[in-house]
Amino acid sequence: MIRLVIRHQSAVKITRVSTTYLTYQAKTMATDTRPKVFVTRRVPVRGIDLLKDKFVVSQWDREDRIPREELLRGVKGVDALFCLLTDKIDKDVLDAAGPQLKTICPQLKTICTMSVGYEHIDLTECKKRNIPVGFTPDVLTNATAELTMSLLLATSRRLKEAMTAVEGGSWGTWNPIWMLGHGLDGATVGIVGLGRIGLAVAKCLLPFGVSRIVYSGNSQSENEQEVNAEFVSFDYLLENSDFILGCCSLTANNIGLFNAEAFSKMKTSAIFVNTSRGGLVNQDDLYNALKSGKIAGAGLDVTTPEPLPTDSPLLTLNNCLVLPHIGSATEKARSAMSELTARNILAVFENKEMPSRLNIQ
Ligand code: DGY
Repeated sequence: MIRLVIRHQSAVKITRVSTTYLTYQAKTMATDTRPKVFVTRRVPVRGIDLLKDKFVVSQWDREDRIPREELLRGVKGVDALFCLLTDKIDKDVLDAAGPQLKTICPQLKTICTMSVGYEHIDLTECKKRNIPVGFTPDVLTNATAELTMSLLLATSRRLKEAMTAVEGGSWGTWNPIWMLGHGLDGATVGIVGLGRIGLAVAKCLLPFGVSRIVYSGNSQSENEQEVNAEFVSFDYLLENSDFILGCCSLTANNIGLFNAEAFSKMKTSAIFVNTSRGGLVNQDDLYNALKSGKIAGAGLDVTTPEPLPTDSPLLTLNNCLVLPHIGSATEKARSAMSELTARNILAVFENKEMPSRLNIQ
């Protein structure tokens, strides 16, 4: 096993073109004829290890977002793009990648994103050019469900306020009426979007003794019985839930779904949690709802924009807990996402079914 790894490594020369670019090329070939893939960030190595023998891999080898002009430059002439949710993959990127006759003979053969979300990719353009798109569902489901539960518990039990009290010295004697929160036992939880992640969250909720799980979405889920969830209207969910969780993907139809009207329908004791996309929420309306006591608390792992500016009014509230989009941030999930992205790319060049191809309507 170790000998094999060494042999593979020796077949590939790593060139650092600049402080930001890495290229993995064949050592022996004067002209490397392998297909080219561009990776837009430093990612867990598992994916790169799978690609580097079969592809010339060029990589934006930094932890910060690739600047737009570097993306346009890096994608030029590549056969495959390994991208992230922070990269806007639009017509300009596709144009920059391929030759003029791209609609007849696309040079870019696949775009694979290391994310389950794909709203950053212009799918209409990809479809027009017959470019298959890969994504990474399933492998991050449990990690994201776990983080959703963490936010829900932390927000409902007022952990931000409690920690601030300890650190700021306002923790007095044990007090029977101090720092009271809301528990899950006997609660009604409303999940907006009972997809992969919504369902996994519902499964986590059951052992906490919730009395009802209701959900809303475009259609009834065939998995609802697994968690004894009831399909209800969005309004019913807002009015009757103690906890409201945003677990649906962001589409053109649900931008700003959680707005002043939605918050006004929630219980004043409601806890709102969003681990999907910041675009689902009108943040000014959320701020007003939290500030005025219209709802009790909010936990957000996603915001608009990301990163959330440090002067955002949301950060002044002690009933609002904001995390930096870490839903899938476990070693296991991120490594699996990197691997699945690589496997999606590999499949295209081996004329196989992609393990996770996006079904573009
Ligand atoms: C995704 O993959 O879309 C997630 O938001 C990353 O955590």
